[in-house]
Amino acid sequence: MTGLVEGKAALVTGAANGIGRASALAFAREGARVAVADVDADGGEETVRLIAKQGGEAFFVPCDVADEDAVAAAVALTVQRYGALDCAHNNAGLGQRQVPLAEISRASWDRTLAVNLTGTWLCLKHEIQHMQAHGGGAIVATSSATSLLGVPLTAAYAATKAAINQLVRSAAMEYAKVGIRVNAVLPGPIGTEMVTRAMAENPALEDHLMQTVPLARVGTPEEVADAVVFLCSPRSGFTTGSLLTIDGGQVL
Ligand code: NAI
Repeated sequence: MTGLVEGKAALVTGAANGIGRASALAFAREGARVAVADVDADGGEETVRLIAKQGGEAFFVPCDVADEDAVAAAVALTVQRYGALDCAHNNAGLGQRQVPLAEISRASWDRTLAVNLTGTWLCLKHEIQHMQAHGGGAIVATSSATSLLGVPLTAAYAATKAAINQLVRSAAMEYAKVGIRVNAVLPGPIGTEMVTRAMAENPALEDHLMQTVPLARVGTPEEVADAVVFLCSPRSGFTTGSLLTIDGGQVL
């Protein structure tokens, strides 16, 4: 049986841990060759090892998504290694420590915007430049259910994710005619390092999540990854500009 993205070349950012690693593994399982991009070299190499262990093909590319030269180089290297860039998951992101809006430092605000928002735009920009010249492709950005909710203590983070939703819609509108589909996944609480740390900093958070997530659990990185691969596959060929919540019903 052929995979959902058989023979495709995929780039996943933030692929050294959490949702990005699960996504890279899922792309490989469904037949893609994967560029694993991250600032965390040890974690990135481990993702590559895990992909090799399941019989897939991948390589690690060091990349800070806030650095335009690094993003351009990651796209170029993927094309050089695999002869194409068909799918991209722009997933790298920083969580925000639980801080009241009026106490966010300027440095923390600037870095959150640089990685989450500017980083997502830079990835879109360079991926689209390649895909536009080579017959199209499919891109998924990781936004967050927080982009649709009023959540206290995460103002900078929530603002970047809401802005990503609009970037995705703009990109979907502008590039549909050249065969590029752009969608977003909006995860609710997913059991990665980011959420575990937030729960450790704020013990009331776990109770709050159990009360506000109708399915009354945190999700798994694999539940997000499966949706990402679907959105990059021909099975979702008529879907673009969508904001897919994967949140146990949290935004209902
Ligand atoms: P994580 O902290 O486990 O993984 C994030 C990855 O991004 C790490 O490998 C990290 O090294 C990498 N990264 C950080 N800054 C980077 C940069 N400047 N350039 C390249 N890579 C960078 O976090 P997780 O939970 O897997 O989050 C992944 C994405 O999912 C993020 O965009 C996050 O905002 C989003 N998200 C996560 C949720 C959750 O509950 N875990 C919920 C909603 C959204």
